[in-house]
Amino acid sequence: MSIDMSHTYTVEVGYDEFCGALAARDLKPLWKIAKQLMPEVPLPTTQAWLWKWDDVLPLAKRAGELITLERGGDRRVLALANPGLRGLPFTSTTLWGALQYLGPHESAPAHRHTPSAIRFVLTGSGVYTTVNGDACDMEPGDLILTPIWNWHDHNNRSDDPMVWFDGLDLPLLTALESIFFENHPDQLQPVDGHNRSEQGFAGVGLREMGISSPIAHSPLLRYRWGETERTLEALQRARGGPMVSLEFVNPLTGGPAVSTFACEMHRLSPGARTPTKRKTGSSVYVVFQGSGRSVINGVCFEWGPGDIFVTPSWASVDHEANLQADLFAISDRPVLQVLHLYREEELVERQEVSGTFVPLQGALRTAEVNRDEH
Ligand SMILES: [Fe+2]
Repeated sequence: MSIDMSHTYTVEVGYDEFCGALAARDLKPLWKIAKQLMPEVPLPTTQAWLWKWDDVLPLAKRAGELITLERGGDRRVLALANPGLRGLPFTSTTLWGALQYLGPHESAPAHRHTPSAIRFVLTGSGVYTTVNGDACDMEPGDLILTPIWNWHDHNNRSDDPMVWFDGLDLPLLTALESIFFENHPDQLQPVDGHNRSEQGFAGVGLREMGISSPIAHSPLLRYRWGETERTLEALQRARGGPMVSLEFVNPLTGGPAVSTFACEMHRLSPGARTPTKRKTGSSVYVVFQGSGRSVINGVCFEWGPGDIFVTPSWASVDHEANLQADLFAISDRPVLQVLHLYREEELVERQEVSGTFVPLQGALRTAEVNRDEH
């Protein structure tokens, strides 16, 4: 039996009733939504936004007091929720950004999940993240990978807390409906050794023969700040200009360290504004050190150490440092490149600045002072 048009009945209704009949049958007329579905340029729902370290850190510390880490509980994580995304806990439509706080002598239990994560260390010392048995030591400026489906737990052996930036592809995997999660049978996984992933890549451009790479991510799980800084310095000397940029790559393939988002480090020299550029896809920037400002679609975002900001797709963006600044960033560029959707362009003239972003600041501290007074 094949599809037969002859028995189809004819509908003779007015326009309003016709629209009602479509809605009742879960149908949408394209002619009413075509422009919204296919704008001439990307119209992101992600908003340009900035979270101040001075606003977030006191709340992360308070979370350390209020929330205990135990099996079944989550990591002590504050997600940077973009106000454009209608309450979703995502920093952009594709990227998760958060601050994670691990108190002295605490451990966050072992688990694994299909979303890939990176940790960029902001403050603290004496912490390691075990990734499939490899205990990766964490120091400020280090990048640690906990890629797709790798067991990971975090362990603080020091008397001080550690705070790091968490970057994940969680929103992308949510959209793809491909998230799996599993707790490790033990609270913490066994440790086979410390910093083992680095041992095969001790020299620049050299690797131990016979090492094969997991296709999904870099075999190197820890990128030390010392190496990153040396490379930034060398590049800055060689290239000059207002900004030099590095990408953290899989040393075996030259591709991104994790397959679903890029990890980058940008060094800004003081006193020079970068050209204004725009690109498809969003980025989340973490200010590791230095201070300055970024102009995003004409709005000036002032930033200092520990501040985090997000740039939406196709936003006009440029940066300028007051003091030499190092910005760590994640972006969804690798996915766009694989899908042949990545575009970038430099504007002929730098964009005008039409306003300044005013972050919410000081409200909690003021409330506490008032409470103490009364
Ligand atoms: Fe995790």
